[in-house]
Amino acid sequence: MSQAVPYRVLARKYRPADFSALIGQEGMVRTVTNAIQSGRLAHAFMLTGVRGVGKTTTARIIARAMNCIGPDGIGGPTATPCGVCEHCRAIAEDRHVDVIEMDAASHTGVDGIRDLLDGVRYLPTSARFKVYIIDEVHMLSDKAFNALLKTLEEPPEHVKFIFATTEIRKIPVTVLSRCQRFDLRRVPAELLERHFAAVAKLENVAIAPEAVALIARAADGSVRDGLSMLDQAIAHGGGEVSAEQVREMLGLADRIQVFDLFETVMKGDIAAALDRIDAQYAMGVDPGLLLSDLLDLTHWLTRVKLAPNGAADPGVPEAERERGRQMAASLSMAALTRAWQMLLKGLGEVRGAPAPLQAAEMVLVRMAYAAELPTPAEAIEQMRGRPAGPSQSAPAPTSQASLGGPSTMHATEGSAAIAHPKPAQAPLSREPVALSRNPAGGALVPIPVNFPALVELLVGRREALLAAHLSADVHLVHYEPGRLEFRSEAAAPGNLATRLSRLLSDWTGRAWMVSLSHEIGASTLREQGLERELRRREDAASLPLVQAILSAFPGAVIESVKDLAGSGASSDEDDESGMRATLDMEADRDGGDET
Ligand SMILES: Nc1ncnc2c1ncn2[C@@H]1O[C@H](COP(=O)(O)OP(=O)(O)OP(=O)(O)O)[C@@H](O)[C@H]1O
Ligand SMILES: [Mg+2]
Ligand SMILES: [Zn+2]
Repeated sequence: MSQAVPYRVLARKYRPADFSALIGQEGMVRTVTNAIQSGRLAHAFMLTGVRGVGKTTTARIIARAMNCIGPDGIGGPTATPCGVCEHCRAIAEDRHVDVIEMDAASHTGVDGIRDLLDGVRYLPTSARFKVYIIDEVHMLSDKAFNALLKTLEEPPEHVKFIFATTEIRKIPVTVLSRCQRFDLRRVPAELLERHFAAVAKLENVAIAPEAVALIARAADGSVRDGLSMLDQAIAHGGGEVSAEQVREMLGLADRIQVFDLFETVMKGDIAAALDRIDAQYAMGVDPGLLLSDLLDLTHWLTRVKLAPNGAADPGVPEAERERGRQMAASLSMAALTRAWQMLLKGLGEVRGAPAPLQAAEMVLVRMAYAAELPTPAEAIEQMRGRPAGPSQSAPAPTSQASLGGPSTMHATEGSAAIAHPKPAQAPLSREPVALSRNPAGGALVPIPVNFPALVELLVGRREALLAAHLSADVHLVHYEPGRLEFRSEAAAPGNLATRLSRLLSDWTGRAWMVSLSHEIGASTLREQGLERELRRREDAASLPLVQAILSAFPGAVIESVKDLAGSGASSDEDDESGMRATLDMEADRDGGDET
């Protein structure tokens, strides 16, 4: 497994050669097929859709469809190219002189497009049509678009243009109006699941159905992204892939852990909730993904509550369904919608936070306290001196629950402050990740300034597995741009150094020396992170303000909303409106909540 055998990535290897192998794009395929069959072929096509759904693939299939001459050499344009004639084969192998592919991302200027358009007036060498495929066409400059437009206005009979773009809104209308447009869709998870299972089978890899499902979900509609994850999982698994491995690779938490965490939070048991999230973090679970799992769970529980029989989703194991029914029954609709809002809001905070774990912890703390609060209806009942209706919340919180007297204003001002240590600076450190969406060639990335930045780069480039090994199993001995030395633990793959140097060289455009060392080196990034986290928490807990908040926080939430808005306190505005939205919404719903 650790040998460097030339390997073709799955996404390339399984590029569909015809429409029948394309999944999830039936609508587009039907329209294209009709156009071809009725001989109504436009001069220019615009293919659009998110990344990895088949745009480039479709462009090549159309190029073949237009130029195929059939096995007997006398066929005309066809929606089902034969795959054996000289044109089909040459296009498949990327060597047809009349099919010209250009990546606009690397030729944005007007010169590139002029050179290309120069050839338009010559007849095709051997094919029926000269086909120009321009990928990422939204990257062209204004001048380049103008040059293109001239040709599109009077295209010669023998020329076809096929454009592909992920950002249709950046295409000038003048260009768009001269193209026949085809929208490619995100591929639904079930289709992805089936597809990935079939690929794994062809690759002779035993992969657990749950692992396939996890990948399909994480792929978020992109076939290519999913195949890349499958690639990584296979490289890791050595012939067998378990759900456990995929979870670890993707930084996902175990379902049961997610249930447990949600339950502790909704019980208001903050200490236990923080322990749980820390334990998950230590195991490599990404705090943001954990919150988004909680969000999913909240949504699912809400649906289960509305229609308990709906819990019979075949994708959910029986034990989970049972637990889900119980939880849904014990939580009020108000509590669920409030949890949903807080998680949704919190997810944004975690993504923008310099320390995502901290941010996630603060979200859980807020939720746990909110879970202890009475619903507005209960509060009103209590003010009238009557006992609240049957409490619909989960088992009543610990005794610290106080019903929010007006005495806690100061504490809440502070609470917003610790939830957002320094919002203004958050995004800066993320640069290497932001540049990273173009795995197949394209722009070079800046050389990471240090080892942690390098690991971040790997994450951004969807090499989560490599990144995980680097942070958990590698002791840094020396780092300078272009040279990396480390001691690796047994758990690291044998070819780690080779793979790293190849990837880094590809991405940064310079040679990288990556070598193993026998020196002890630094502690691993993961160890360092845990240490830092521990120190940070101790520091925070010792601040007088925070101590005050921690003791006074229960019951303060409702007060804080009014108080902060009124006093124009210096904390994050956005947060206030979010909190207010939470409460307003709940008040709206509450009337109809009780059956
Ligand atoms: N609809 C699909 N059906 C089957 N496989 C697909 C589909 N879409 C993408 N793939 C797989 O993903 C790979 C990449 O697809 P393709 O290059 O066509 O995507 P794209 O939409 O052009 O992406 P990008 O926007 O990143 O250029 C293909 O080689 C194929 O393996
Ligand atoms: Mg493409
Ligand atoms: Zn053919």
